[in-house]
Amino acid sequence: MSKPYETIKVEREGNIAWIILNRPHRLNALNDVMMEELGDALATVDDDPGVRCVVITGEGDRAFSVGADITLFPKATPVMAETFSLKGQKIFSLIEEMSKPVIAAINGYALGGGLELALACDFRIAAEHAELGSPEINIGIIPGWGGTQRLVRIVGLSRAKRLVMLGERISAEEALSIGLVDKVVPFEKLREETMNLAGKLAEGPPIALQYAKYALNFGSQAPLEAGLRLESALMALLFSTKDVKRGIEAFMSRSKPEFKGD
Ligand code: COA
Repeated sequence: MSKPYETIKVEREGNIAWIILNRPHRLNALNDVMMEELGDALATVDDDPGVRCVVITGEGDRAFSVGADITLFPKATPVMAETFSLKGQKIFSLIEEMSKPVIAAINGYALGGGLELALACDFRIAAEHAELGSPEINIGIIPGWGGTQRLVRIVGLSRAKRLVMLGERISAEEALSIGLVDKVVPFEKLREETMNLAGKLAEGPPIALQYAKYALNFGSQAPLEAGLRLESALMALLFSTKDVKRGIEAFMSRSKPEFKGD
């Protein structure tokens, strides 16, 4: 799985894959190569049946990512900017569409596209010193990789407007208080806490986790009636898996189920 990437690293710890953004001298700003490599790595870990949970983080202790590499902007035409936006949205959507849970371990600044990347993940754990924000407005643009859409769904319209229209950075604690991150931990504990969560998810029933993720994401943007119908169909389909038998048997015998994803 470890391809020779230039701007990211992919590491395996048991059945958990870590994708590490690796341009620390640029605070892990996302350039074209990094976006391509991220897309490739996401597809690769999704296809790997040995991977049960994915973590995305940044190299170093300064930044998860400070977003799109602004040095690319001066030459951009509107058509180039739209392509850039659509391509990025597609890559981040891979995270949402992925069959496995994805955690953002926010090790420092998560700004602009860096925040948008974290928003596409299923869980967000932040280091205490992390700062989050959508500062695009400060250079005269708006988020283009899903920020305006996912922020609203996660923190609500009013808070999303504050972040996007004022462009201010907020602390990890404040992010926790508005539900933008799920947990805040000292930087030294970030890996351990992330592994605890990843370990729990990796032990879960993979197909049920996949359906839960799909139903929740679908429900966040669909009419209730359609969401409820989908929920019934997916819940029913799970009765065709061996994992549901393992789960029920383990419950009856008061043992711990060993889910295998079949
Ligand atoms: N794209 C490209 N390079 C970036 C970058 C970005 N989004 N953000 C930071 N960098 C570069 C800086 O230019 C600097 O490079 P240099 O050492 O060659 O001069 C390096 O990363 C370190 O950044 P610096 O600004 O010196 O660090 P700081 O601690 O003073 O400030 C930030 C950190 C994150 C607050 C500040 O860099 C910033 O506001 N960055 C822009 C974030 C942003 O607007 N993102 C949305 C883009 S649409």
